[in-house]
Amino acid sequence: MSEFSDMAKTQTTDQKVVVVDFGAQYGQLIARRVRDLQVYSEIVPCDITADEMRKLSPSAIILSGGPASVYAQDAPTLDPAIFELGIPVLGFCYGQQIMAVTLGGSVGHTEKGEYGPAPLTLDEEAGVTSPLFANTPNEQTVWMSHRDAVAQVPDGFAVTASTDVCPVAAMECTEKKLFATQFHPEVRHTPYGNDLLKNFLFGICDLEASWTMDGIIEDAVAAIREQVGDARVILGLSGGVDSSVVAALCARAIGKQLTCVFVNHGLLRKGEPEEVEAVFTKQFDVDFVHVHAEDRYAALLADVTDPEQKRSIIGSQFWKEFFAVAEELAEDGRPVKYLAQGTIYPDIIESGARKTGGKASTIKSHHNLIPFPDGVSFDLIEPLDHFFKDEVRALGSALGLPDYIVNRQPFPGPGLAIRIIGTVTRDKLEILKNADAIVREELDAYNAEIAAQSGVSNGEVVRTCAGGPEIERSVWQYFAVLPDIKSVGVMGDERTYGYPIILRAVESSDAMTADWAKLPYEVLARISSRIVAEVPGVNRVAYDITSKPPATIEWE
Ligand code: XMP
Repeated sequence: MSEFSDMAKTQTTDQKVVVVDFGAQYGQLIARRVRDLQVYSEIVPCDITADEMRKLSPSAIILSGGPASVYAQDAPTLDPAIFELGIPVLGFCYGQQIMAVTLGGSVGHTEKGEYGPAPLTLDEEAGVTSPLFANTPNEQTVWMSHRDAVAQVPDGFAVTASTDVCPVAAMECTEKKLFATQFHPEVRHTPYGNDLLKNFLFGICDLEASWTMDGIIEDAVAAIREQVGDARVILGLSGGVDSSVVAALCARAIGKQLTCVFVNHGLLRKGEPEEVEAVFTKQFDVDFVHVHAEDRYAALLADVTDPEQKRSIIGSQFWKEFFAVAEELAEDGRPVKYLAQGTIYPDIIESGARKTGGKASTIKSHHNLIPFPDGVSFDLIEPLDHFFKDEVRALGSALGLPDYIVNRQPFPGPGLAIRIIGTVTRDKLEILKNADAIVREELDAYNAEIAAQSGVSNGEVVRTCAGGPEIERSVWQYFAVLPDIKSVGVMGDERTYGYPIILRAVESSDAMTADWAKLPYEVLARISSRIVAEVPGVNRVAYDITSKPPATIEWE
């Protein structure tokens, strides 16, 4: 973990909720919900020891759900001494079961399992007086997803709620501040889930909702200033949300000590280079270097058709351009000491680097591959390394970045070069940029419509435990692809021989898997007719209806 991150944590996170993760996706969702309630939350793997937990000194612990059965071979366990630390614990699903078996209760199979919404009834005594269920109705709907369930609660525990299938749908030992539910309060399909979380955080653990955007920015700015002193910092600005937010944050913290280097390889989407330059020259008081490398990239890519070769050329040229600027900057006698980069919290969790707030390396794996030239080394600053993506977006908005940067979709580093199949030429780039602009315009509008109807923002997914349905999602990533073929068409009375454009629009939450978006026919029709009418050289539009796997999201 970078020094900054340690420092930031002690400043912003006096009150911290540690989520013990028994199955990655649930941990992240719970931490998000806690953070949404303005309490700082971190995720740790379930092999954390009680000693390590004590060092983290959380104000509360939440045990996540997980896909395993507690009695399965290799099922995750929990250090029993964690329950003796005197820290309040709340367990969900697997978290309840692990609490039960660790403390002397038992878990068994239910007859048919329970998946989806289930009517829950609070126990007439224990349930009604339970601080966890305070101010929620005696009958409520909860989201269940389990086959196993607690059969016998540990000594000292009371059953506070049940469903028809699950006699121990919730249990607690108020004396030791241990609480658990078989259902999932963290998913939005448990209507009172957020109330239960609030009851736990603010009623039972007596925490304060103090992790606010203003405080976060203030602390992050102070931490950057303290780390950097009067040294010089350089940042590779791609125009993507992470590097833009780092730039905005550093701009506020250290102003002109920051140089943003924007290497324009000519492979960005229509309008993007101008947008980036406008924001970082007019809106923020930083040094901005726009490297016009379009011609060098065009020359390097001429005749290259292999996707991996394209990637490698584009990536290594980026660093050449970047270091050339760093060297030039150093000519005034003030060398660059720091490289700022946009590593975000999921990068760290997913790389398994962070365990217990120790000093494990937290650099994204691909950052290790930065080919620093001989004699060049930078210290890293990673001001976003404890934020989730949508928190990064919120930070960006709070720092004044425009929506079109804050809400940008994922975009590959090699840019449009890997969306043009075969050789990359200026003509093909022009066609693709224009077609892609239409795709974005139409699908931005469609997503806005979905958001207005359902309150779900771009790509947000409501996930449920253990294979339950994933619902309520808008289109996550969409773009145009230009293949290396032509086909015959007819326009007016003329025969045409032009390129097709392939439309790719997918639903996903993390790009690891994706499904093609079931777009309404009228949206598809509008995109198709606009592209053919407005983009010279294109006479056909096809829609890619393949999921990932077996395909990938990008075509190259
Ligand atoms: P694939 O095509 O592998 O893409 O399904 C998964 C996600 O990653 C993005 N992507 C890239 N991002 N450099 C990047 O920074 C790359 O070379 C690259 N290739 C794919 C892609 O847009 C999708 O969101």
